[in-house]
Amino acid sequence: MENIEKKEQLYEGKAKKVYATNDPNLVIVDYKDDATAFNGVKKGTITGKGVINNKMTNFMFSLLEKEGVPTHLVKEISDRETIVKKVSIVPLEVIVRNVAAGSFSKRMGVEEGKQLLCPILEFSYKCDELNDPFINDDYALALGIATKEEIDTIKTLTLKVNAFMKDFFKKLNIDLIDFKIEFGKTPDGQIILADEISPDTCRFWDSTTHEKLDKDRFRRDLGGVEEAYHEIMKRIGLGE
Ligand code: TMP
Ligand code: ASP
Repeated sequence: MENIEKKEQLYEGKAKKVYATNDPNLVIVDYKDDATAFNGVKKGTITGKGVINNKMTNFMFSLLEKEGVPTHLVKEISDRETIVKKVSIVPLEVIVRNVAAGSFSKRMGVEEGKQLLCPILEFSYKCDELNDPFINDDYALALGIATKEEIDTIKTLTLKVNAFMKDFFKKLNIDLIDFKIEFGKTPDGQIILADEISPDTCRFWDSTTHEKLDKDRFRRDLGGVEEAYHEIMKRIGLGE
């Protein structure tokens, strides 16, 4: 790869900035320490989060590539910055739940921590104005959010991600309760894993103590937020 230069900022999200490069097919993501919850209503900072989320995402994406899940990852270039393939993000939050928690527990009146009989794959429509509403396949098809083929690919890849990650974290004495991923479409129409996999986007509970080791510590004001992110990095083998 010839020298990639960082150009103008294209976009700023809640947790990341995206920059153009001198290659039209590549962009640079820059992870921030900013944390939000409840669609930006709660705001704060998790010191060092940007570095952790950048490194953890790239580590997980590299492992997933080996499992046959294509991702946008190209090259980590600094603590907070990574070159990724430029994609158009499919506006779906793809959520997998192995254990009841969060909005599922609230919606269904099921106690947090209850083991589900099978993994649940659900979609939210990525739209801040509407508060990311829960939708199903037919909504996505009828509104042209994704084609049948794209939805099938997204589901197959997502279940692969879940199977791999559940097993990977179990070996670290961590239960993968649920997580959210996003997919992008390359100019030639390929669906690839994009965005991030981090304690911002997953629920991780210690298998023995059930202690929460993820962003719920920030969302619910539980304290020990930075410590939880560092603990995950340590168990993965990426801690300082
Ligand atoms: P939920 O139980 O609040 O619907 O969250 C399910 C999973 O999705 C959980 O692991 C946290 C993650 N998530 C995000 O990554 N971004 C979000 O905006 C929300 C609401 C949840
Ligand atoms: N992405 C959500 C928001 O900003 C945060 C979350 O709960 O993860 O507000």
